[in-house]
Amino acid sequence: QAEQELAGLTSESDLQNWRTQFLGRSAMVMQIFRRLPEAPQEERPGIGQFANQVKSALEEKLAEKMDAVKASALQENLSGESLDVTLPGRSPSRGRLHIQTKVTREVCHIFAEMGFQVFQSPEVESDDYNFELLNIPAHHPARDMWDTFFTTEENVVLRTHTSPGQIRSMRAFHPDPIRVVLPGMCYRYEQTDANHEIQFNQLELLVVGKDITFAHLKGTLEEFAKRMFGRDVRTRFRPSYFPFTEPSAEMDVECFVCGGKGCPACGSKGWLEICGCGLTHPVVLKNGGYDPDVYTGFAAGLGIERISMLRYRIDDIRNFWRNDVRFLEQF
Ligand code: PHE
Repeated sequence: QAEQELAGLTSESDLQNWRTQFLGRSAMVMQIFRRLPEAPQEERPGIGQFANQVKSALEEKLAEKMDAVKASALQENLSGESLDVTLPGRSPSRGRLHIQTKVTREVCHIFAEMGFQVFQSPEVESDDYNFELLNIPAHHPARDMWDTFFTTEENVVLRTHTSPGQIRSMRAFHPDPIRVVLPGMCYRYEQTDANHEIQFNQLELLVVGKDITFAHLKGTLEEFAKRMFGRDVRTRFRPSYFPFTEPSAEMDVECFVCGGKGCPACGSKGWLEICGCGLTHPVVLKNGGYDPDVYTGFAAGLGIERISMLRYRIDDIRNFWRNDVRFLEQF
């Protein structure tokens, strides 16, 4: 009976039960050993020997069966968890430079070839540098042009443009002539749309020297546009107003997101404004330490995101700082 039952078993736990039943304390063979004293003296060795044979035969069968069950369980595991070692591995995803880091570097590189050096200036500014020294007094209506993020510290703001760097570089270079670019993040507390964002990069241009004219400004910016977008790019200058330049202008580049037909990127205008600019106001030169009767200069503030939008045909500025990797991975 024991052998018959054993043959039908397939799992280790069945085998344990079987052991209890046929080799355990209350199993039949074990009872024979226990009740040996009840048998007549002369028959005991024979009975004992026979019971021993039965017991070791069962133990042997169990061991054999146990090996077979383990082997088939292993076999099953192996075939279930098959591993194809010839499959190509998956490479870990790599970080990369943000598109704006790349474009800022490219823009700096172009201006470097034109003789400009990079000057760093802080993102958090005093009211003085961001406004006052740039000829924008407190309560002047022109302050409305820059919707400002104020801080809990009195007179400390997130810079609304890179223009405060004009004063900082003038004070650093005085009395030498200046030809610098100042790249960096700016912040404005304003309504966002396809081409307005509360944070964005600007690149300030500042040239100070003797006999600097509007022709230098126009020539520099047009040459930049050609090097950035290709020699046949179309640009236009419109008169404008900034308190720290006189005269002031804005430069547009023909929108080739839509080819001048009108799209969300250019607000349907066909042209995208990429910078404000002008000849440095005498008051600003004086605040920077330069005598406006001897020196003149020009300045511009380029919108780096606008430049990227044109270059890569991106029709919404909000993509840049949304941190959606599906967008960022493309560059
Ligand atoms: N700072 C101006 C702005 O952010 C741009 C500008 C820079 C205009 C330099 C003139 C000269 O709007």
